Amino acid sequence: MERNTDTVGGTFEVAETDVSTGIVPASGDAGPQKTVFIKTYGCQMNVYDSTRISESLEQEGYTLADNADDADLVLVNTCHIREKAAEKVYSAIGRLNKLKKKRANSNRPLTIGVTGCVAQAEGREIFRRAPSVDLVAGPQTYHDIGKMVRQARNGERVLHTEFEIAEKFASLSKAHPTAIKRSVAAFLTVQEGCDKFCTFCVVPYTRGAEVSRPASQILDEAKRLADAGVREITLLGQNVNAWHGTRDGGEWTLGDLLRALADIDGIERLRYTTSHPIDMDMRLIEAHREIGKLMPYLHLPVQSGSDLILKAMNRHHTAAEYLGIIEGMREARPDMAISGDFIVGFPGETEEDFEATMQIVRQVRYASAFSFKYSERPGTPGAELDNKVPEEVKSERLSRLQALLNEQQLAFNRGCVGQEIDVLAEKPGGREGQLSGRSPWLQVVNFEGDVSQIGSMVRLRVTHAGPSSLVGEPVS
Ligand code: 5AD
Ligand code: SF4
Repeated sequence: MERNTDTVGGTFEVAETDVSTGIVPASGDAGPQKTVFIKTYGCQMNVYDSTRISESLEQEGYTLADNADDADLVLVNTCHIREKAAEKVYSAIGRLNKLKKKRANSNRPLTIGVTGCVAQAEGREIFRRAPSVDLVAGPQTYHDIGKMVRQARNGERVLHTEFEIAEKFASLSKAHPTAIKRSVAAFLTVQEGCDKFCTFCVVPYTRGAEVSRPASQILDEAKRLADAGVREITLLGQNVNAWHGTRDGGEWTLGDLLRALADIDGIERLRYTTSHPIDMDMRLIEAHREIGKLMPYLHLPVQSGSDLILKAMNRHHTAAEYLGIIEGMREARPDMAISGDFIVGFPGETEEDFEATMQIVRQVRYASAFSFKYSERPGTPGAELDNKVPEEVKSERLSRLQALLNEQQLAFNRGCVGQEIDVLAEKPGGREGQLSGRSPWLQVVNFEGDVSQIGSMVRLRVTHAGPSSLVGEPVS
């Protein structure tokens, strides 16, 4: 994943992902083999959703294809967060359209579906702009994906963008046993949606209101993941630290949930993303002091260091309040690595406001970060604001900010050299005889090792640090 870029998203977001899961193919079911290819854009929530969609389709008799050419059904799971992300989706559909035409008179017609946030935001408009699309389904409808796909394959045009999040979570709990084990590190969605209405952001409109998944469902799924060999779980939510629930007659927040997850045998590491500063409570901060399995890494977007811009963005906190949270976290866990998201060029941002952003970056000393030029999103309050910042000013500010963030990231990585750290061996590395895993601070670490070590915690001494990864050697 590339960092500090304005084309792909934050820690909460990843670049395009081709193969959506490591799902175990269905065996010997009736009827001809049908294949699906899912192209995923955007955040980890989308990656997770693609996994769930493929699990449901597996029950419909589908197996996963490696590319669109080999598929009967192609689903494009989309991201709407910035204009560039949405435009990429239409280019992808344009390419699929050509493939569909080529296959029109063959015995293997192609069905095209669009899921995710562009589907939610644009709905029927997608059929107008891209008539080759057969199915448009928003993020809260995936429990019905099997039925929708059947209808689309029968020649119906299917549009489904209703919000039924509770129903979606209920269907998620009926996980298919063969589909559980993906890797030794897994994502688990605990919360969906957002009520914050930051004035630049489409998420409250595409993902709907905040809903927390019940604690019992989360704990059950975590146990199944642990039994299937998963050692690290990252809890996902647009506002993951707004998660709340009831358990044993008491009110729980994310800190309580993390405590219960840490008690599950086999789970060795816990992470969560993405958090909002106004939902950081003491239970969560204390969880970092108390739970060794909770990794010392916090992704806490601040977006801007200027109080005026934070107000215009409707963030509900000041720069000083953000710094106070970071201080509290570092007091609880002195080795805490901080990551953030930034937007430059929000309407009205002056050079002085931008300097305040540079200043907060200097104060926090980020271990990693994601930074973007403000992208005006239709329908958001930000789009109505005057004093727009010219593109060239945005670009110039972004490059200054990214130079500072890159410098900090490299400094953080270099600070690890010589340290002994635990790395969860996740997969074979780029070179023969090499393994790749993650440090406690989410850095990629490459080291000499054998595939039999995948899934175990390896003690390494860090020998080299680059801008985006570390190299380590095993400590006997
Ligand atoms: N323009 C630029 N960046 C945006 N983000 C969200 N909406 C926009 C937008 N309209 C960024 C924020 C957020 C991250 C996921 O994407 O920094 O934290
Ligand atoms: Fe968007 Fe703000 Fe909600 Fe994050 S908190 S998803 S930036 S509206």
